[in-house]
Amino acid sequence: MASAGRRCLVPCVLGILLNALIGVICEAELSFVLEPSDVIAVQEQPLMLHCQVSGLPPVTIQWRHSGLLLIQDQRHTTFSNGSLLIAHFLKTRSDGSSDEGDYECVAQNSFGLVVSRRARIQAATMANFHVQPESVHAEESGVARFQCQIHGLPEPVISWEKDGRPVDTGDERYTLLPTGVLQITGVRLEDSGRFCCVAHNSAAVKHSAEAVLTVSGSQSSVYKEPMILVGPENLTLTVHQTAILECVATGYPRPIVSWSRLDGRPIGVEGIQVLGTGNLMISDVGVQHSGVYVCAANKPGTRVRRTAQGRLVVQAPAEFVQAPQSIARPVGTTAIFTCQAQGEPEPQLAWLKNGQVLEPGGHVKLKNNNSTLTIYGISQDDEAIYQCIAENSAGSTQASARLTVLWADGLPGVPTRVRAEALSPTTIQVSWKEPGQNTQDIIGYVLHIRRTSDPVEEEYEEAVNKVTLQHIIRDLEPSTSYTFYCQGLHVPRGQQTVGLAPPRPLTGRCPRLLCSTRRC
Ligand SMILES: *[C@@H]1O[C@H](CO)[C@@H](O)[C@H](O)[C@H]1NC(C)=O
Ligand SMILES: *[C@@H]1O[C@H](CO)[C@@H](O)[C@H](O)[C@H]1NC(C)=O
Ligand SMILES: *[C@@H]1O[C@H](CO)[C@@H](O)[C@H](O)[C@H]1NC(C)=O
Ligand SMILES: *[C@@H]1O[C@H](CO)[C@@H](O)[C@H](O)[C@H]1NC(C)=O
Repeated sequence: MASAGRRCLVPCVLGILLNALIGVICEAELSFVLEPSDVIAVQEQPLMLHCQVSGLPPVTIQWRHSGLLLIQDQRHTTFSNGSLLIAHFLKTRSDGSSDEGDYECVAQNSFGLVVSRRARIQAATMANFHVQPESVHAEESGVARFQCQIHGLPEPVISWEKDGRPVDTGDERYTLLPTGVLQITGVRLEDSGRFCCVAHNSAAVKHSAEAVLTVSGSQSSVYKEPMILVGPENLTLTVHQTAILECVATGYPRPIVSWSRLDGRPIGVEGIQVLGTGNLMISDVGVQHSGVYVCAANKPGTRVRRTAQGRLVVQAPAEFVQAPQSIARPVGTTAIFTCQAQGEPEPQLAWLKNGQVLEPGGHVKLKNNNSTLTIYGISQDDEAIYQCIAENSAGSTQASARLTVLWADGLPGVPTRVRAEALSPTTIQVSWKEPGQNTQDIIGYVLHIRRTSDPVEEEYEEAVNKVTLQHIIRDLEPSTSYTFYCQGLHVPRGQQTVGLAPPRPLTGRCPRLLCSTRRC
């Protein structure tokens, strides 16, 4: 709709003037040095969450619990260094409330407001065993396996007892997997007894029910097909955790257990260990370890084999590849912030303006899955701290940047009494009056024009000389609504800059104006 010739004139002139001004970068003037981390809190114990900011004083720090501002009372103290103390952490209080939930630290100074990452606070707990060990019968030189499972926070550590005493972990026939499994290979008569598992974490210590192992003499020289008694489970872990892939094979002669990846890629050697006779342990997992793992049990010297498989999914918390940078821009220009985060699964991005969720619309646009925030024709209202929040199922992180709108005394004011009138189906006349102050520096005006239904990027400009104070826009579409605003164009006085306030060639914007062309 906009003809090429019309688009060019003003942008060309402005482009030269503006290039000199863009790219003034300064610090965010308010940012986090230390943010609260996720914590598993112990019941009835004090809990301290930390928050430190750097910024121009005075800075006030407050805390939000599940979105609501925390008030200072006997239960909560916010220290001057920003830390929050919960004197007596309780999962359930007498009034039905809970200290569990999301906590955010909110910092504010004259430049704006920033919100920290969301720290997830959970109470340490231990449920009852949901899998109890079961009594088993094993043949001499065969395999015995016990398992117990219990939910808890933090993850309970599981150990085993035999006849009331800790099992002999020095005996290499005994393999204890952190997942709550006890494997005994090459079973002997003296292994028979009563077994139970013990779970402990910061919340409790619990004993499982007892299970009995009975051992009978073997017919070991009889051939038995290789068989996989227990194969690997599907696992979802977060980076740096340890993966245990279990595989217990039986048969005579004893089968050889080996591991591979279904996609044919090598398993590697770093951080890889075999526990007991065939379990695979991967310490410090990374996203590259995600895949389907296949355990194979081979009859020695043959191709006879059985397999079992399990999928390992490794998640990575969101982290920034590119964080938004603070910028200073003259009034009326466009400000762009970019933010890119990586993680597994792909993080979602959202933006805050002075701590409030930024709702795009009008002259504020979010593009490329929220990785680009563009603010067109900035005004004083857009000056704020902008935060990019990246979040996925493995964690959340934030980065902040400030937009400074450059403006100073001695500049011309905003054009006033702007009016628009449809003259015909294809023309609209816009008129205005000079700004109230400092009009002597104005060399002309810029009229911004856009079909109301078009996105802001489609806006184009027409230049108008300083004496006319009105302009007829031609070649418009009939019965169509258009949006206008105008700005003065002025000669920066003296070109020299003082501190952070360089000369600006555009005045503020007049209010937006809507006008429709006539019907044909
Ligand atoms: C903040 O002050 C409190 C009370 O003096 C102290 O316990 C806490 O450790 C301090 N926080 C940091 C991060 O140093
Ligand atoms: C693991 O996940 C696959 C699908 O990805 C499913 O077919 C299989 O049954 C699961 N195995 C177990 C042990 O849950
Ligand atoms: C983009 O951010 C807004 C809030 O700033 C959020 O409501 C929306 O869901 C986000 N969209 C995507 C694709 O992440
Ligand atoms: C936005 O995200 C979707 C799904 O995460 C992806 O397929 C698409 O390529 C992304 N688009 C851009 C412009 O990054």
